[in-house]
Amino acid sequence: MDLFNVYPLFDIEISKGIGCRIYDNHGIEYLDLYGGHAVISIGHSHPYYVQKLTQQLENLVFYSNSIVNNFQVELAEKLGKISAYEDYSLFLVNSGAEANENALKLASFHTGRRKVIAFNKSFHGRTSAAVRVTDNPKIVAPINEGFEVEFPALNDINSVSKSLKNKDVCAVIIEGIQGVGGIRVPEIDFLKELSAECKATGTILILDEVQSGYGRTGKFFAHQYADIRPDLITVAKGMGNGFPIGGVIISTIFKASHGLLGTTFGGNHLACTAAIAVLDILKAEHLMENAEKIGQYLMNELNKIPQIKEVRVLGLMIGVEFDQPVKDFRNRLLFEKKIFTGASGTNIIRLLPPLCLSKSDANEFLISFREIIQLLLTD
Ligand SMILES: Cc1ncc(COP(=O)(O)O)c(C=O)c1O
Repeated sequence: MDLFNVYPLFDIEISKGIGCRIYDNHGIEYLDLYGGHAVISIGHSHPYYVQKLTQQLENLVFYSNSIVNNFQVELAEKLGKISAYEDYSLFLVNSGAEANENALKLASFHTGRRKVIAFNKSFHGRTSAAVRVTDNPKIVAPINEGFEVEFPALNDINSVSKSLKNKDVCAVIIEGIQGVGGIRVPEIDFLKELSAECKATGTILILDEVQSGYGRTGKFFAHQYADIRPDLITVAKGMGNGFPIGGVIISTIFKASHGLLGTTFGGNHLACTAAIAVLDILKAEHLMENAEKIGQYLMNELNKIPQIKEVRVLGLMIGVEFDQPVKDFRNRLLFEKKIFTGASGTNIIRLLPPLCLSKSDANEFLISFREIIQLLLTD
């Protein structure tokens, strides 16, 4: 059987990871500034994480959501505490798309409405409702077109206000920082006004923190820079440091009832063990503080490079925009300098490193990056 060929691949096989370093099957070391697409939060194969998962593997991998699972309770308590959302509840799933799918369902159940507002350049995943609110018609199948969505420009509060006036919108869904859309940070005043407009019209505000959450920006959630409290927050990616787990963080306005939501694998013993270990390490190693500090350093240094058009940074979520396509920069960084980076569209390099990135890792990247820029822009 062949693999269904949907992913363009680099011809590199990664077989090992430690901290911010990954190794291919020939033993070649790479600096990982991509984190497997923002998934690696505490670093590859952290010894505490490995030990906790190994121990749990020997005890129990899975049992269904029909029995008491105190790992879920411990995870919810620790997540509530570290994120300052102790009064909210947690529903556990397996991925970012599934988290958004359930958040949209909750919003629609709660309001009885079916229209949604998302934003220009948004990405929320590929399941039916999540892909419908993603601003990319190429990945929306006819079967996904089940409800009306508007995509105003990010930060355009007037358009959003107009659309909310009829009180027929169940939810506004917005990324803490747009990732796929090119590291676009919503303005603080916009988020504050958006939150107020949603409250005034009985519209549910969903903050998709799948990519921007879990300490990546220096705060636990990117929206906390705007000091707002959304009705629903979705998480995944960094939550399990590579073990698939996601969640919906749910405010007290929502009433749970048996059978309202459900999933077979969501919140299983192994996934919760991974997620608890991640939170323990985030706290013990002060990784949010590190993300803020190293992010600031990278921003200052990147801003000194004249060939760069714009640098957009919040912690370790970094977009570096050029006037020209970045494909060659990334290929040379990868194949000559052994540094993994990500991209958004054609002209933006996206950096999503593990949150344990050190200043010397950052310097290693900066030296190589300057060199490649010099080479390519003077060739
Ligand atoms: C902001 C955001 N939401 C949702 C998703 C979907 O997450 P998953 O691929 O785990 O379904 C992604 C994935 O890139 C994302 O960046």
